[in-house]
Amino acid sequence: MLTSGFLYAVLALATYVQAFPAFGSLAGMTREQLDAIVPTLKYAKPQNPPGPLNDTSAKLVNDAAHPWKPLAPGDIRGPCPGLNTLASHGYLPRNGIATPVQIINAVQEGFNMENTIAILVTYAAFLVDGNVITNLLSIGGKTSFTGPNPPAPATVGGLNTHAVFEGDASMTRGDFFFGDNHDFNETLFDQFVDFSNRFGAGKYNLTVAAKLRAQRIQQSIATNPTFSFVSPRYFTAYAESTFPINFFVDGRRNDGQLDMTTARGFFQNSRMPDGFFRANGSKGADGIDQVAAGAFIAPGGNVGKVNSYTVDPTSADFNHFCQLYTDFVQKTIFGLYPSPSGVLLDALNTNLNFLFLGVQSSGCTQVFPYANLTSTAPTKY
Ligand code: HEM
Ligand SMILES: *[C@@H]1O[C@H](CO)[C@@H](O)[C@H](O)[C@H]1NC(C)=O
Ligand SMILES: *[C@@H]1O[C@H](CO)[C@@H](O)[C@H](O)[C@H]1NC(C)=O
Ligand SMILES: *[C@@H]1O[C@H](CO)[C@@H](O)[C@H](O)[C@H]1NC(C)=O
Ligand SMILES: *[C@@H]1O[C@H](CO)[C@@H](O)[C@H](O)[C@H]1NC(C)=O
Ligand SMILES: *[C@@H]1O[C@H](CO)[C@@H](O)[C@H](O)[C@H]1NC(C)=O
Repeated sequence: MLTSGFLYAVLALATYVQAFPAFGSLAGMTREQLDAIVPTLKYAKPQNPPGPLNDTSAKLVNDAAHPWKPLAPGDIRGPCPGLNTLASHGYLPRNGIATPVQIINAVQEGFNMENTIAILVTYAAFLVDGNVITNLLSIGGKTSFTGPNPPAPATVGGLNTHAVFEGDASMTRGDFFFGDNHDFNETLFDQFVDFSNRFGAGKYNLTVAAKLRAQRIQQSIATNPTFSFVSPRYFTAYAESTFPINFFVDGRRNDGQLDMTTARGFFQNSRMPDGFFRANGSKGADGIDQVAAGAFIAPGGNVGKVNSYTVDPTSADFNHFCQLYTDFVQKTIFGLYPSPSGVLLDALNTNLNFLFLGVQSSGCTQVFPYANLTSTAPTKY
């Protein structure tokens, strides 16, 4: 019988499908939602990730072909000052919607990020926050999507999505618990400056990075009852503390000391200084050992109230790097996509193969959450 409740659900689903953006993530959707949405999307077969740059020398990257421009209406920016800046200089599409290959090319060309870390970070973020059918990722959230509820999922994806990649205790962005996990926060940046003054004579360097990382962890423990600091956030938090040093310091200086005017330009305005040269040689999380040593805490989190930090022995840590990868695939990805088929399965398996390229050289063994299906001619999803 066609009850009004049923009719409402059908209409709500139809509105939802109509409003669903091509870059919205399918992660965590029910079978019903996938059945409604996947057929409306055009499958863009994933392209192979680019290899390393052939020329990794420092060079002018704030050049005539890549001028900074202010945001146009609808342009999306998010929690990552690196990607925000690449979009505002046209290394990425200025609207903030990009493919994984565009992101890898941009971080390599614009900042000299090392190839395997670029691959690892990009495919990890893309698999949980991007749309694997259309091959698009939002570097922030959404602009105009307002889905009905139910059956809308809590989010349409993008890098603002909390807990699968974005996480707590960021240097210049607040914790999700406090309501805004992606915009530049002046109070937090003031603390960044204060720590740079106290421990770096006015510059952000690795000594400051370790002090500030420890401070942000302690602040989250003391104020955020939902504070979570387990893999993958555990790793990205320490790694990201080194990025301003490795990527925001002009490649001709290369002295690991970041001045505050340049820092504000990147963190707040997504802007490179005039005449900016990228790093001299490709870099990743160089210096992470020093940050981790100076700000060490075992992975864990608060358990529903402040000051209740409890170690989580099941999380990957620095002694179990490959577990970062295997848990991410077998728990996170598999949990978000428990039974994919057709083009969705094809897209997931292909992107999982690309993700593995980011850890292969670290000696990790590939894991396959969906049996060992490489590619069967996809007809359904
Ligand atoms: C390779 C692709 C990349 C992806 C997918 C990515 C993604 C992200 C995400 C999701 C965050 C938020 C994490 C959080 O604080 O909760 C973040 C933070 C950050 N990213 Fe990226 N990122 C990438 C490359 C880069 C590059 C090339 C740079 C530097 C040039 C960079 C610099 C940073 C910094 C400094 C933060 C920390 C911000 C803060 O703590 O306030 N990222 N990134
Ligand atoms: C490096 O050079 C090779 C050979 O010319 C080329 O195929 C490859 O695309 C280049 N790599 C990049 C990242 O441009
Ligand atoms: C910025 O962060 C501070 C400190 O966590 C917080 O009190 C404040 O509400 C945040 N500001 C905004 C605009 O979110
Ligand atoms: C950071 O700057 C301070 C003050 O100049 C200096 O004592 C410290 O050695 C620097 N640390 C690094 C890693 O450059
Ligand atoms: C980059 O580093 C190399 C090797 O240390 C050096 O010869 C070169 O001059 C540096 N390039 C720039 C632009 O500083
Ligand atoms: C998956 O299948 C490919 C192709 O049949 C094979 O080469 C590979 O060894 C298999 N891997 C595992 C882990 O079974």
